[in-house]
Amino acid sequence: MTDSIDPQRVPHFTLSSGEKIPAIGMGTFGSDRYSPEEVSAAVAGAIRYGYRLFDCASVYGNEDRIGAVFAEAFGTGVVKREELFITSKVWNDMHGQGDVLFSLAKTLRDLRLDYVDAYLVHWPFPNYHAPGCDGNARNPNSVPFNAERYLATWARMERIADMGLARYIGMSNMTIPKLEAVLPRCRIKPALIEMELHPCFQQRELFGYCVKRGITVIGYCPVGSPNRPDRDKAPGDVADTETPEVLAAAKAHGIHPALVCLKWAVQRGQIPIPFSVHEKNYRSNLRAVVEDPLSEAEMASLAGAERNCRLVKGQVFLWPGAKDWEDLWDTDGRITV
Ligand SMILES: NC(=O)c1ccc[n+]([C@@H]2O[C@H](COP(=O)([O-])OP(=O)(O)OC[C@H]3O[C@@H](n4cnc5c(N)ncnc54)[C@H](OP(=O)(O)O)[C@@H]3O)[C@@H](O)[C@H]2O)c1
Repeated sequence: MTDSIDPQRVPHFTLSSGEKIPAIGMGTFGSDRYSPEEVSAAVAGAIRYGYRLFDCASVYGNEDRIGAVFAEAFGTGVVKREELFITSKVWNDMHGQGDVLFSLAKTLRDLRLDYVDAYLVHWPFPNYHAPGCDGNARNPNSVPFNAERYLATWARMERIADMGLARYIGMSNMTIPKLEAVLPRCRIKPALIEMELHPCFQQRELFGYCVKRGITVIGYCPVGSPNRPDRDKAPGDVADTETPEVLAAAKAHGIHPALVCLKWAVQRGQIPIPFSVHEKNYRSNLRAVVEDPLSEAEMASLAGAERNCRLVKGQVFLWPGAKDWEDLWDTDGRITV
């Protein structure tokens, strides 16, 4: 295969176990816009091109199609199972007793795997919303974060790690106050934490908190998720790809601003998981992190692109009595209940 990138050339980070993990992956959430067929076709093309990490989730509604792609790739010798790092996540309505294992069993059946490389708790709330709902949708049964309840879910995550069904376990959409409440009581610490990260939303404190504890960080919406679901669009949101700091670097390198965001992410030390079903885009995304790095001056300038612009606000998970979406993120330094 000549028209591909040797996965060995792709930068890697080191997990706390000492194992290497690719420093970039592909997202698989179709944002309620792209069909499972389109997403899985992109996964097939991405494997051939040299991607080795894929970020899946049951709630994306496409794991069965992606599983067919994995099976085909393994069966035809395009890639070996152990060469891929595949993550999936337990959705909010499956935190309860037995449900984590049940959810993972369905994911493994759909993805046609014996194990996932990492299994994450998608959100720290057991608050369900229907796929494709709009931003005003609220579930009256929603509840605020509760450390005891989360730890009960985490104990089930530890169990599936014990069983070898997930090589690593991790969390997603956490805050420092929530981590402070649960980390000391985790028998198995999270190896990975997934969070929203892009130049206009750098989460410096949370990122630093994880790095300091040897937790590898996966960054979602790495190019600012321009096609995110309408429920996640709000007046005042900033487009990363239109900020002067990103545009200046894009011009200097003669590349699309999205690629600046990805170079920045990998050079900063987080794993971006850009999504695109378009071959030209997903190819250029992988290529961007193996060539022509940003200079120290450009990295310093991009540090100044921070606009505190959270895109996935999560308001559909709010519970009765909550004020607004900031309650989900403990912005005053305490767990909001
Ligand atoms: N843990 C969580 O709660 C959570 C939340 C959100 C997302 N995620 C994960 O993170 C992944 C990525 O997030 P995301 O899809 O929201 O945001 P994103 O990767 O920042 O943005 C995706 C969009 O960017 C465009 N794009 C990608 N590469 C491009 C390029 N080289 N040039 C121009 N445009 C480009 C694509 O447009 P085109 O379609 O036109 O190519 C695509 O629709 C998801 O797929 C999912 O796996 C996790």
